[in-house]
Amino acid sequence: MADDSEDRSRDLTDPISQRLGYDDTESLVAVKGHPIHAMSVAFPVALTFCLFGADVLYWWTGDAFWARAAIWAAGTGFLFGMLAGFSGTAELLLVSGIRSRAPAWTHFIIAVTLLALLGANWGHRLSGYEQAVLPYGILLSALCVIVVSFTGWHGGKLVFDYRLGTSKGK
Ligand code: HEM
Repeated sequence: MADDSEDRSRDLTDPISQRLGYDDTESLVAVKGHPIHAMSVAFPVALTFCLFGADVLYWWTGDAFWARAAIWAAGTGFLFGMLAGFSGTAELLLVSGIRSRAPAWTHFIIAVTLLALLGANWGHRLSGYEQAVLPYGILLSALCVIVVSFTGWHGGKLVFDYRLGTSKGK
């Protein structure tokens, strides 16, 4: 009986892992082996947290400076996020071992959701940055913080658990 199931599990093969280039996971969008995506994601992550912080400080103090800081953080967070997204998408499409793995596509979907939220957050403020903060601006920023945390955590999983975009030290 046990032998039977061992035989059957030996016959089972994962068709995805049989694909040509499944083990090619090294970054191609890189400067001397340093992935551009990993270098660029720090900016949208930090700016998203700054955006929420500026909204909270505007709510607390009523000082227009913080509403102005928030619209800048939303705009630059969105634009730097797009840049990070381009390098990530290039990596996803060009590297066969990254393209074949479902978690890389999951990360793409979460990241695009984040970019849409950051873009909406910025657009919402363009017709009046002070009135935009309460309540919808700050609520959108809180949602952006949750989604960026998830995006960053999941991106880290791709690198540390799945070893995507890492060097094989050849
Ligand atoms: C929109 C399309 C995106 C795609 C297709 C994508 C794809 C990837 C891939 C393939 C990796 C593995 C490492 C590498 O190959 O460079 C990665 C890592 C990562 N991604 Fe993205 N990404 C996207 C956007 C974003 C955004 C907008 C953020 C954050 C704001 C982000 C945060 C991260 C982080 C933190 C890592 C781990 C980097 C490290 O620890 O070295 N990604 N991403």
